[in-house]
Amino acid sequence: MPLIGFGTWDLQGEPVKESLRVALDKGYNHIDTAEGYRNEAEIGEVLKSYNRDRLFLTSKVLPTNLHYDDVLGSLDQSLDKLGTDYLDLYLIHWPNPAISLRETLLALSKLYESGLVKTIGVSNFSKYQLRVAHKISDVPISVNQVEFHPWNREQDLLEYCESNDITMTASAPLARTKVLQDPVINELSEKYQKTPAQIVLGWQIKQDVVTIPKSSSKDHIESNFEAVNFELEESDVDRINNISKQEKVYQLDLEDDIYGIPS
Ligand SMILES: NC(=O)c1ccc[n+]([C@@H]2O[C@H](COP(=O)([O-])OP(=O)(O)OC[C@H]3O[C@@H](n4cnc5c(N)ncnc54)[C@H](OP(=O)(O)O)[C@@H]3O)[C@@H](O)[C@H]2O)c1
Repeated sequence: MPLIGFGTWDLQGEPVKESLRVALDKGYNHIDTAEGYRNEAEIGEVLKSYNRDRLFLTSKVLPTNLHYDDVLGSLDQSLDKLGTDYLDLYLIHWPNPAISLRETLLALSKLYESGLVKTIGVSNFSKYQLRVAHKISDVPISVNQVEFHPWNREQDLLEYCESNDITMTASAPLARTKVLQDPVINELSEKYQKTPAQIVLGWQIKQDVVTIPKSSSKDHIESNFEAVNFELEESDVDRINNISKQEKVYQLDLEDDIYGIPS
């Protein structure tokens, strides 16, 4: 799984097409989308001009669609929109306590066995939820995608992933720009002569955490990709790990009734 990917949340229409083309031309070969982002069809249009075999494509099933047949239906629609025969990774976007996880994992296992998805995983799962999924799944849980940046380090979850051969992917890796103001990040930016974003992405990559920054600016898309070309010293990784500020930037909005629980 490529260590850096292109995030596409909140990018739709022409902006997602333009940004994705910039990213693919720069050398990104990993794209993160979801049925909930409502941009799979535009992404599919762009992908027609690129070699599918060289790309790692992730999508996610919404927590309202976690019953067995709904998972199969969601994947079918994602493949159709993306114009591909398979996904490299298919994630449960959020846990849903109203739908049996065993049922969802059976559906994902069926998709895996039929070759429609090469790997499966979860997103926004706590250590406890991940542990349950890992225990009951017939096929390996390859990834947990969670909010992970210098103000939300998830050390315990990361250690659990490392010891169970599960890759952690950092969603909102730049904390939606908030963390770029952090004084430690800015000191390191001066020291390495790298942008604050490159420091944050380099910190994730150094810990083998896959990172998927989103941008609609050509300069940002290109400079973010270059974070793979430098290495932070261990002592500087520790400095970032010792930042005391804790702040999450996203959470499930219960107003969305995303669990599909009738009120
Ligand atoms: N699984 C989940 O529930 C979940 C949740 C959140 C996100 N995600 C995934 O993770 C991806 C990334 O997260 P995100 O989009 O929420 O936030 P993010 O990548 O942390 O931050 C995106 C913001 O950072 C800015 N930015 C990007 N590069 C920059 C740079 N070099 N310098 C300054 N600003 C920069 C972008 O603005 P510009 O356009 O101006 O560059 C944009 O406003 C998403 O797109 C999605 O694929 C998944």
